[in-house]
Amino acid sequence: MNITVNETIHLYTTHSQLSFLLLESGHLCFAYLGNRMESSDLGYVVEELQRASYLADTDGRKDFKLEQLPLAYPGYGNPDMRSPAHQEIYADGSMVSDFRYVSHEYTTKKQPLKGLPYATAEMITCLTFKLRDEVTGNELHLSYTAYEAYDVFTQSVVFKNLSKTSIRLEEILSFHFDLLSDKFEMITLNGAWGRENNSNRRPLVQGTQGCDSKRGASGHGQNPFLAFVTPETTETSGQVIAATLLYSGNFKAAAEVDMHQNTRIQLGINPFNFSWKLGPNEVFQTPEAAFLSTEHGLNDMSQKFHRFFQECLIRSIHRDKARPILVNNWEATYFDFDKEKIYMLAREAKKIGAELFVLDDGWFGRREDDTSSLGDWFANEEKLKGSLAEFIEGIREMGLQFGLWIEPEMLSENSRLFEKHPDWVVKIPHRTPQKIRHQYVLDLTRKEVQDHLIQVLDALFSTHSIDYVKWDMNRNLTDIYSSTLSEDRQQEFSHRYILGLYRILEELTQKHTNILFESCAGGGGRFDGGMLFYTPQIWTSDDTDAVERVRIQKGTSLIYPPVTMGCHVSAVPNHQVGRTTSLETRTLIAQQGNFGYELDLLNVSAEEKELIAQQVACYKEERQLLQFGKQWRLPVYDESNESAWQKMNEAKDELVVVHIQFMAKANTVSKRLRLLDLEPDAVYQIGKEQRTGNELMKIGLMIPRATNDYFGTKWKLRKVVDNHANIKIDQYARRSGD
Ligand code: DGJ
Repeated sequence: MNITVNETIHLYTTHSQLSFLLLESGHLCFAYLGNRMESSDLGYVVEELQRASYLADTDGRKDFKLEQLPLAYPGYGNPDMRSPAHQEIYADGSMVSDFRYVSHEYTTKKQPLKGLPYATAEMITCLTFKLRDEVTGNELHLSYTAYEAYDVFTQSVVFKNLSKTSIRLEEILSFHFDLLSDKFEMITLNGAWGRENNSNRRPLVQGTQGCDSKRGASGHGQNPFLAFVTPETTETSGQVIAATLLYSGNFKAAAEVDMHQNTRIQLGINPFNFSWKLGPNEVFQTPEAAFLSTEHGLNDMSQKFHRFFQECLIRSIHRDKARPILVNNWEATYFDFDKEKIYMLAREAKKIGAELFVLDDGWFGRREDDTSSLGDWFANEEKLKGSLAEFIEGIREMGLQFGLWIEPEMLSENSRLFEKHPDWVVKIPHRTPQKIRHQYVLDLTRKEVQDHLIQVLDALFSTHSIDYVKWDMNRNLTDIYSSTLSEDRQQEFSHRYILGLYRILEELTQKHTNILFESCAGGGGRFDGGMLFYTPQIWTSDDTDAVERVRIQKGTSLIYPPVTMGCHVSAVPNHQVGRTTSLETRTLIAQQGNFGYELDLLNVSAEEKELIAQQVACYKEERQLLQFGKQWRLPVYDESNESAWQKMNEAKDELVVVHIQFMAKANTVSKRLRLLDLEPDAVYQIGKEQRTGNELMKIGLMIPRATNDYFGTKWKLRKVVDNHANIKIDQYARRSGD
């Protein structure tokens, strides 16, 4: 093609490289995202492209076809006609812009994103490109940050209206990347309430594909995440390019394969029902997206995201602290409880060794079922037989920490708050707003509503001895409208709602740093990097069935660290699917994440209670490894019937391996489970046996025969020798019939 490249601009992490090309025309392109190569001039990546037919020439220059190029942050129709990264409507009604390079700057300090979640680390390199549209004077600032030790990059974008008139931003994405190939399979996380985060892998086809949310939250049915893998990529090898949006509202995650087998990857605020009026000198800041590339398969992708989320995004002082083993009363009592019943449960919780008791929904206002009282965040003193403070004191006297459930974003019609402020409901004038679970949503775009929640919850947290808060959200947003926004700003609602929520969370979590916050949205309906910035853990799903949880937790931990996933042992038959699984299997699966119990301990046999107490004691010993260990998904013989994972501590001398077989089968030949990334020459103790790392990785552990359905096996491995000479002695001793 007829292209001249002026400069190649690089951004590096320890092992990765992101390279840009600055064309003579001022257009900014991508050259490369992948393993670090140290090459300087990559201009040939676009210069050697052969021209395609029937595409517009750019700037009147023959065979300079922008639509064929891997563009860094394109608009639409000048002359690229693929899906744009940004779109504006200008005062004259036109939608075409032309942003070209002005300058770029490297820094080692990152500015916080105002009002939004953002990642940061000590060793970072920030690269910001300034682009300008000469006709309007408007600027786009593309900010990329390289997290050196994490091999992760982030991107966010700022739009500056430097013209004299207001414009409307119709689309302004956070992450945009063009790949010059479509030989990829795409992975998304999909599902529904109770079926969150099922991993969905399929080949790319020409056209647009992906997932999005229009629900006012990231949602149960889709997660703001996309991964692209080559057909041969497995858990342990192969190329992966993946991105996730650190945002909790409506999003778009799309891949567009164009006419020439190129793939455009996009992630950002969903342009659907979004429009932002930007006056002269006003600025719009997009949320941030995190992305990475690896050649070592999906486990490596997950481990990189886990470290990045834990160390660069989550700020809570609880982040690295052992998380308490909790008992939550929800599935034990639902709304049907009083002080006596809860205290009886709490005493049992203490006996089994739990550390935190969580009082779930139903403690406030006149709440006896889900039809009332949301908004009235004061105790139902009849139910609690006194004040909340006295109630909490009783729990504390049992030697337990105390946790409380709230659902602040919501309002019941039958509540004092509604009587006082019916106008605070999200609704369209002259239309009846829809209820979901009998509740309305509070208009968090309004400052007085935000202030009210901050004040009421601050008072609740300040005047009570609360260690943990479960922040729930049990419906999505309908009837989108705010009476305080002008007609031309109504499509700002969904983003303003999230900004309002973030302001409330910022104020409360920063003031009450001692409280361990867990967010929840009917389970994993808002499990995203945005919420993790404020709350270091999230309730993974309302489906507590062990078998269902294997799939949900596997998908969720594809990007999110296991310690961020709330996982509880519940009763059998399971309340959501009616399945009966053994206590052992339920426990192994719940211990993959942030562990607790959510069953009626008063209805558990003495033997089971004894077993639970042993499991709790054992978990306490292994807690550091189970909560903060590095996790691998292990390849299994039959993916449809098995799942296995391995966790290893930081010192690399302790491991836990878990294998779950869903259906027992007659007369199956024994299969082995091969472990990953052990030290080949080290010796590991497994019960009475010793094996070398090499043996464990190449031959593996014998999986016991499943004697019933939903059969779980756990191995605990400890490194005993890491000296080569000693290994031989050990092996000799074992082989000579020791
Ligand atoms: C939905 C949550 O996910 C459950 O755990 C429970 O807290 C209920 N809400 C209470 O209404």
